[in-house]
Amino acid sequence: MNIAIVGSGYVGLVSGVCLASIGHRVICVDNNPEKIKKLKKGEMPIYEPGLRELMHECVKKKRLSFSGSIAQAASQSEVIFLAVPTPSKPNGDADLTFIENVAREIAKSMDSYKLIVEKSTVPAETGQKIRRTIQLNLPAKYKKGHKILLDFDVASNPEFLKEGSAVYDFMNPDRVVFGVESKKAEGILREIYKPIKTKILVTNTASAEMIKHASNSFLATKISFINAIAQICDRVGADVLNVAEGMGLDKRIGRQFLNAGVGYGGSCFPKDVDAFVRLSEKSGYDFALLKNVRAINEEQKQWFVRLIEEKLWNIKDKTIGIWGLAFKPNTDDIRNAAAIDIIKILQAEGATVKAYDPKAMDVAKSVLKGVKFCVDPYEAAEDCDCVLLLTEWEEFKNVNFQQVRDSMRQAVIFDGRNFLDGRQLAPLGFEFFGVGRGGKT
Ligand code: UGA
Repeated sequence: MNIAIVGSGYVGLVSGVCLASIGHRVICVDNNPEKIKKLKKGEMPIYEPGLRELMHECVKKKRLSFSGSIAQAASQSEVIFLAVPTPSKPNGDADLTFIENVAREIAKSMDSYKLIVEKSTVPAETGQKIRRTIQLNLPAKYKKGHKILLDFDVASNPEFLKEGSAVYDFMNPDRVVFGVESKKAEGILREIYKPIKTKILVTNTASAEMIKHASNSFLATKISFINAIAQICDRVGADVLNVAEGMGLDKRIGRQFLNAGVGYGGSCFPKDVDAFVRLSEKSGYDFALLKNVRAINEEQKQWFVRLIEEKLWNIKDKTIGIWGLAFKPNTDDIRNAAAIDIIKILQAEGATVKAYDPKAMDVAKSVLKGVKFCVDPYEAAEDCDCVLLLTEWEEFKNVNFQQVRDSMRQAVIFDGRNFLDGRQLAPLGFEFFGVGRGGKT
């Protein structure tokens, strides 16, 4: 199939490359000329494991190309996926300006049947709005009074991939959801996804949009739930790792997304929870549960800093080493990363901050001021009063902790992801604190 993907960010680029790799001819579009220039040269604008190799393979097989023009890509494609950003407005609403602009541009260039598919996370009813925008902006020759003479469909095919394992997730999804209003649209989507063996769920567009919102909000709820449990564990001497394990063994609950830590971040959960709270409000429902999920997530970072203060006595004038800046491992993405917020709180309280991340330092340099960026975890720990592990990069498990201990002013580690094994660090002379471990290592 000939497919255009508008928006070459994490979701768009991964979807484009993966759809090309399963046999389709794909044009990835972006309105950032620099990004398109880079992609045409074979350079990656983002770090995502496995993506670069797959992209080169698809380009070589002439299944994947890049363009700055929506009109050109749309005219060559029967199916157009929308994967443009839907950022938060100051009031939490999803800003759908990009979606509207792209829909308008597609409409203007339409001269044959098109299936327009939303992949970005959008509020329920966006499908209807896209349909209306296209009707309003179709060339005059395709309109006769209120009658539309050109056939087209709008569908929703929400993406559930996670950054850091995006290629694997796209190729091996738990389910694929088609929100469609016609058999034709369903048939085309089935054809596109034929090589991917998984459960396919067909709904109307509004339900598909809701599935995406409800799924992300539920996962965020799981995280805030276990973070709340972690706080209680610390107070009553229980260990949140044991609690999560015990809960997770119940198949109705499951162990995934019960990792307590410094809170969720990224470009999805914070924004999507905000947008869902607003969507609910507008529909006349006060989603108090979700508001609390958000509040717990914010409080978790403050709580972690208070824990550091309790153990270090004063934060002012201390030197603190940060291991990990990305919002999760295996990505260079720092959007809404807990590490960035925590660093800003520590700086505001008078600490000197040194930091190291295997992939996210370049982007972090543009948002963090006054931080000393280091070449490795050793330099980040040197002369520090404590180290905070804030992203669970595998690399941090393999450092030589004796060397780290000898170079620190005080051998204290706060593990904000319950990633390291405190039982191995204590005999080396470290004071080690996790999240919700009941004060134990
Ligand atoms: C999330 C969803 O997991 C995807 O299914 C969805 O497609 C995506 O949003 C999206 O809407 O585009 P992503 O944000 O890439 O994916 O990453 P996650 O692995 O979900 O992690 C999100 C945040 O939650 C990270 O900061 C992570 O550290 C945190 N987290 C995750 C926890 O604190 N505890 C956990 O148990 C799991």
